[in-house]
Amino acid sequence: MTEADLYLSYKGMLLPKAVHTPESLRHFEEFAFRSDDVVIVTYPKSGTTWMQEIVPLVLSGGDPASVETLHNWDRVPWLEETRAPVLNLEDRPSPRMFTTHFHHDMMPASFFTAKPKVIYVMRNPKDVFTSFFHYHGMVSFLVDPNPQSEFLHKFLDGKVIFGTWFDHVKSWLSVDERQRILHISYEDRIVCAQQDLKDAVRKIAQFLEKPLDAEAIERIAHRCLFKNMKKNKMSNYSLVPLDIMDQTKSEFFRKGVVGDWKNQLTVAEAEYFDAVYKEKMKDVKYTFPWD
Ligand code: A3P
Repeated sequence: MTEADLYLSYKGMLLPKAVHTPESLRHFEEFAFRSDDVVIVTYPKSGTTWMQEIVPLVLSGGDPASVETLHNWDRVPWLEETRAPVLNLEDRPSPRMFTTHFHHDMMPASFFTAKPKVIYVMRNPKDVFTSFFHYHGMVSFLVDPNPQSEFLHKFLDGKVIFGTWFDHVKSWLSVDERQRILHISYEDRIVCAQQDLKDAVRKIAQFLEKPLDAEAIERIAHRCLFKNMKKNKMSNYSLVPLDIMDQTKSEFFRKGVVGDWKNQLTVAEAEYFDAVYKEKMKDVKYTFPWD
């Protein structure tokens, strides 16, 4: 199926019709934030699911109840998606947790007055592309990413869902409110050793003003390791029917590593990617771990 069959256009951004409707988008626009809400913001494939595990664990002081009983999409729901209007989010007790893939300037009016806390997760765009490519290959409501070279051009031109990675990252990096926005990268924090993960948990707990003892930090970090999260049925999308997500083609928890783009892009594709990156990011004064 083509983009026209599968996607709608919202404020110049393509979105999958299967999970975004005029009603869910209206609900998003009218959503009333509270100042003690926590919002996870990502470009897709940048570590959203990881953060949807870690934030509830941090806020509950390490109690695994919510990550063991609630799907990640209900636990930390996407505000722009069709589930949001049916979850009675208005009635949830504080601190509420949400996710969005939208740009900063697309946030509803209440976001700018209530000023909730934001955790913005970034990942090397070449690894994002790689993960995105495999994800598109297994999800029935997204376009077929083949041939790869064509999909790469679409990705770099923003003719994919949620627009370009460049616009997304620039939009959220332009917000310089340290008290309120934590910028964190997949490469710094997630992948490798448990020590990195403990540092990440500590940093997130500090940002969310939730004091945790060493034992709780250790427990949360252990749960959020790739190999452990991959086993959590409430986070690994294994309960999504095969005709929507065919994980026999590619698992949602695919590799969870840094630098897999080297196995995905040809030398010419990587060089082209670097040239576009250089041009689009030339005015950005931020040191990314992959630079
Ligand atoms: P790969 O496809 O490269 O393996 P998102 O949650 O934003 O959709 O991102 C999904 C990507 O994050 C996938 O990347 C997935 O494997 C990876 N991921 C999810 N949880 C992770 C974790 N705890 N540690 C490392 N990577 C994780």
